[in-house]
Amino acid sequence: MRTRPLKVALLGCGVVGSEVTRIITTQSHDLAERIGAPIELAGIAVRRPNRVREGVPTELLTTDATALVKRGDLDVVVEVIGGIEPVRTLITTAFEHGASVVSANKALLAADGASLHAKAVEHGVDLYYEAAVAGAIPLIRPLRESLAGDKVNRVLGIVNGTTNFILDKMDSSGAGYSEALDEATALGYAEADPTADVEGFDAAAKAAILAGIAFHTRVTIDDVHREGITEVTAADIASARNMGCTVKLLAICERALDGRSVTARVHPAMIPLSHPLASVREAYNAVFVEAEAAGRLMFYGPGAGGAPTASAVLGDLVAACRNKLAATTGAGESAYTRLPVSPMGDVVTRYHISLDVADKPGVLAQVATVFAEHDVSIDTVRQQGKDGEASLVVVTHRALDAALSATVSSLRKLDTVRGVASIMRVEGE
Ligand code: HSE
Repeated sequence: MRTRPLKVALLGCGVVGSEVTRIITTQSHDLAERIGAPIELAGIAVRRPNRVREGVPTELLTTDATALVKRGDLDVVVEVIGGIEPVRTLITTAFEHGASVVSANKALLAADGASLHAKAVEHGVDLYYEAAVAGAIPLIRPLRESLAGDKVNRVLGIVNGTTNFILDKMDSSGAGYSEALDEATALGYAEADPTADVEGFDAAAKAAILAGIAFHTRVTIDDVHREGITEVTAADIASARNMGCTVKLLAICERALDGRSVTARVHPAMIPLSHPLASVREAYNAVFVEAEAAGRLMFYGPGAGGAPTASAVLGDLVAACRNKLAATTGAGESAYTRLPVSPMGDVVTRYHISLDVADKPGVLAQVATVFAEHDVSIDTVRQQGKDGEASLVVVTHRALDAALSATVSSLRKLDTVRGVASIMRVEGE
């Protein structure tokens, strides 16, 4: 084994960073054997050096992250700060000074992955980010390396644990959205400001990263259609149950049937209880990958938390260190297909629509005509009358999202339609 250690710096030492430090220091012998050289922690950049961090050597702490990444003797920089700036500049500076980077930063990768990859290539170093998507679940490396010889057509997953916990609670207890969110907050699953999770931003960033890698193209978070779970009601969950379905916040990345474009979207959807994703409970994540030769693969596990995220970071760190030792780099970005990302209107799927209508002769025919006029074929209709009004649940066959939107706009204009109570896509069939 080489005795000169590989020098590693850490940017950020919160929940994940502390766990990364703990593993580096307590598992040093095994890590050295696996890499072929020992790891030396060269410095840890933090904002608040006086905070108590169990097991973190205080002599390594610094508040000057810029000076740390400019040292020039670092082999790998591990970034677990999050956010766009100053992290983008710090990562770029680390590359310029010859260090590979391991990051858990989905927001930055989803916003600007292409230019970071280009910088890494320019400086002959690695950029790894397994921890950015679905915590401990190996997903980036299987897509980038194990499936590099296959053709991935679809990635369908639950990539946000907070929203899965909330929807699971609503499903299992009949609770409304606010009640389930309160429980998620009390148990520490939801942050004080849950916007990034419940509005789908977190999942959209992960969808962008997955779509880019799966289809060998470039997808940013701005390309991802996003709807959160704040409008999902107990009635939607009950309706899903009636259909033998449950509601999940899904990230869906698809190659168009003609192969000429891709789509990426995040929204709540009904999926059949028989689908493997339906049994993903609490805050777990799971991702279904459909590839031409491999068929259907499912990846399942904890998508967040200090130790699971640190596991993914450490895997990347070992890979980056091995490459440094071999004076090489691993698989980088592959975006050669340059497939455009189509808008949501081009997506084809099924829909569940709940309408409140007047209960009188001809209304059902009127509603059905509107669907037909927009070329949206109805699969099933269920009607329940109550005091001269009726609730109508229409489930369609597969239709263009743009056609469905036009249908709903026209339905809203009918005097006999009192309101469109909910529209939800039906996936996974
Ligand atoms: N907040 C995320 C989740 C974890 O709830 O899954 C970090 O991406």
